[in-house]
Amino acid sequence: MDARRDDATMAGDDHRTVTGQSPHPTILWSLASDARSDARNHGAADAVVSRNGIEQRLLPTLSAVTREAAEYLLQGNLVAFPTETVYGLGGLAQDDAAVRRIFAAKGRPADNPLIAHVSSLEQVERLCVMTSPLAQRLMEAFWPGPLSILLPARAHLPAALTAGLPMVAVRMPRHPLALALIEAVGQPLAAPSANVSGRPSPTTAEHVLEDFASSGAIAGVIDGGPCEVGIESTVVAVETDGRLVILRPGHITREDLAAFCDDVLLDPHLLSVSEHEQPRAPGQKYRHYAPRGDVSLIECSDRDRLHAFMAEQALRARQTGERVALLPLTPAPSLDAASADLWYPLGSWQQPDEIARHLYAALRACDEQDCTRVIMECPPDTKPYRALRNRMLKAANSSVRTLP
Ligand code: TXA
Ligand code: MG
Repeated sequence: MDARRDDATMAGDDHRTVTGQSPHPTILWSLASDARSDARNHGAADAVVSRNGIEQRLLPTLSAVTREAAEYLLQGNLVAFPTETVYGLGGLAQDDAAVRRIFAAKGRPADNPLIAHVSSLEQVERLCVMTSPLAQRLMEAFWPGPLSILLPARAHLPAALTAGLPMVAVRMPRHPLALALIEAVGQPLAAPSANVSGRPSPTTAEHVLEDFASSGAIAGVIDGGPCEVGIESTVVAVETDGRLVILRPGHITREDLAAFCDDVLLDPHLLSVSEHEQPRAPGQKYRHYAPRGDVSLIECSDRDRLHAFMAEQALRARQTGERVALLPLTPAPSLDAASADLWYPLGSWQQPDEIARHLYAALRACDEQDCTRVIMECPPDTKPYRALRNRMLKAANSSVRTLP
C-alpha cells in the first residue's frame, strides 16, 4: 500500500483547488468485530466499502488497523484516532510540516498550542526536560489517562507545536487504540481535538467525518466507538516552585491532584467569566465547544421551577420563529418535550459522567437540526460538575442565567 498523499505535502492544501481533482476518499478504519456497517454481515476481514467519499476498511485486529494508519502518519499525513476523552487529530509532533497541517486542517488560531501524545516515558524525554519529581509522580498516578502535563519544552521542537511558548503539553492517553497507534508510529503524536475549530469536540468517528470527510484534509479516522469520558483532559502546569496550576478543568479534579501537591491552584481566568482575562491555556479564550445557535444556559436550585422556565422560554422562542433545542439534565417528563424542536436530555443530573459523555453529541445534534436557540440546564457549581460547567459556559459565551 502506498500511504503517500502526493497532493498533501503542503500545510493548508485543499486538494480540490490545488489539483483540480476531487479529494481522496477519507479512510474509516474499523475493527471487523465492532464494525457497525453492512460489510459486517459479509463477515469479511480486509473488506473495503466505499461511499460518499469515505472508504471503510474493516481489519481483523487492532494491530492491523494501527499498522496501516501509522504508515499514513509516518508519511506526514493526518489521522484522527479515539482517546478516552475525545477523538484527536493526529500528526507527527516533531515534524514541523505535519504540525502546520493540523493547524490548517482545523482552521486553528496559530497562538493555540497542541498536546503531544506519548505511549512511553522515553517519548516524554524527547519532548521535554524531565526534572520535576512532582511531574513524575503525576505520570505514575494518572497515566495512561486524561491528564495533560505542561513541562519545559526541548529547543528542537516545531515552534508551531507550542505556539512559541516555553512549555509543551504532554499526555499518555489510555484508549488501547491510541496507545497502539503511537506505539506503531514509534514517536509522539500531536493531537488536538479532531473538530474544525469552533465546533464541539468529537466523541465518535462519525463526528470526525462530519467535520473533515468533505475537505479531504485528513487521511482517515480510526473508529473506536463513543469516547468513555466525553470531555477533554485536565491541563495542568507544573511550576518550578512546586505548585500545580490547573489551566483547563477535566475528569481529573483539583481534589484528585491535591493528593500529590499541597498547592493546587486554578488559573485565575477559570474563576471569572470576564472576557478580558488572558488564560494561560490559549485555547480557553476562544468560544469553542459551541453549536451554531445561541446557547441560553440556565441554573436554579429549584429544578421543577427551572424546567418550567426552560419550557416557557422554548415556547416563546418558537413563537418568534426560532428552532429550539432543549437540553435538560433529566429524562423526566416534568419538562414538556413538545415545547421544543429538539429534545435531548443529557442524562440524569446525579450522573456527571453520563452528562459528560452526551454533551458534545447533543451540541452537534443542535446543529444538525438547524436549531437557532439552545436552552441548556446548568449543573451546580460543585466538585463533580466543574469541568462540565466550564465546557457549558464556553458554549454559552461565558454567561449563565441564575433564577432566584
Ligand atoms: O483530551 C484532550 O486533551 C484531547 C485529546 C485528543 O487528547 N485533546 C485536546 O486538545 O483537547 P486541544 O488542542 O483541543 O486542547 C488543548 C488545550 C488548549 O486549551 C491549549 O491552549 C492548551 O491545551 N495547551 C496546549 N499546549 C499548551 C502549552 N504549551 N501552554 C499552555 N496551554 C497549552
Ligand atoms: Mg479542542
